[in-house]
Amino acid sequence: MKVLVTGAAGSIGQVVTLGLIDRGHHVIGLDRLPAPDGFEGTWHTADCADPDAVLDAFAAQPLDGVVHLAGHPDEASLGDALTSHVVTTAALLDAMGAHEVSRIVFASSNHAVGRTPRRDLISDDALPRPDTFYGVGKVAAEAVLQMYVDRYGIDAIACRIGSFLPEPITRRHLATWLSHDDCVRMVHAALTATAPGYAVVYGISANTEAWWDLEPGRRIGYQPQDDAAAFADRLPERPEDEAEAAHVGGPFATEAFHRPAFD
Ligand SMILES: NC(=O)c1ccc[n+]([C@@H]2O[C@H](COP(=O)([O-])OP(=O)(O)OC[C@H]3O[C@@H](n4cnc5c(N)ncnc54)[C@H](O)[C@@H]3O)[C@@H](O)[C@H]2O)c1
Repeated sequence: MKVLVTGAAGSIGQVVTLGLIDRGHHVIGLDRLPAPDGFEGTWHTADCADPDAVLDAFAAQPLDGVVHLAGHPDEASLGDALTSHVVTTAALLDAMGAHEVSRIVFASSNHAVGRTPRRDLISDDALPRPDTFYGVGKVAAEAVLQMYVDRYGIDAIACRIGSFLPEPITRRHLATWLSHDDCVRMVHAALTATAPGYAVVYGISANTEAWWDLEPGRRIGYQPQDDAAAFADRLPERPEDEAEAAHVGGPFATEAFHRPAFD
């Protein structure tokens, strides 16, 4: 498939770009930053929050799908979070409509449900329960995706990513880790699943101690292979572990992240 990867210069973007190319996809990169060294395909240096710049990028070549990874992966003011996650998503969706592109894979986050108390396995029917304005931005972006699926019959997969890392480094990651290889598996599955409509999947590896249900991912063909448990004996206990395990959002759901909506 010809795929526009936004945020392609970022940590997930660089891994996904290489992984999709390995799987035979043709990747067009887009980021506010220039292309990383070694990227040889088409690159658009543009801001996804600028609808005209996004339209220009779509007009430059035909596309079969979009992987939307551009966004600030941390807490921010409410306005910045909405721009970074909701405005960018809407700009891409409008450009998809204008250019008849019908598949988008969105990097949502576990923080969309981060304030959910840590008890039972959480599945795709969990109510939104953001822990931060970052999480609010992801919830609202998911709502925009759902609306465009209902209105226009496109396919949109929101991947609520846990902790994307080469390997787990805290006890929480035993539940939340997403390995690099599984991330590529997930994005490839989301791009190629037959008629998923709107789907929420949890972006974690096949972790023995997972807090999120892998079944919604399996329904779109995501078969994770890695397990954070393989690293368990290397993870030191820390004083913060108990507070971070109270809600699924971990540190983002603790008081340290309380802040007003406006700077
Ligand atoms: N890393 C994780 O564990 C994790 C977990 C959950 C969700 N996510 C989501 O995955 C996505 C990628 O995260 P990451 O860890 O690779 O972050 P990153 O900061 O490494 O990469 C994000 C990239 O997006 C670009 N970008 C940001 N805003 C942009 C805009 N408006 N227009 C164009 N480019 C823009 C940045 O320049 C950067 O290259 C983010 O949406 C993040 O919220 C990440």
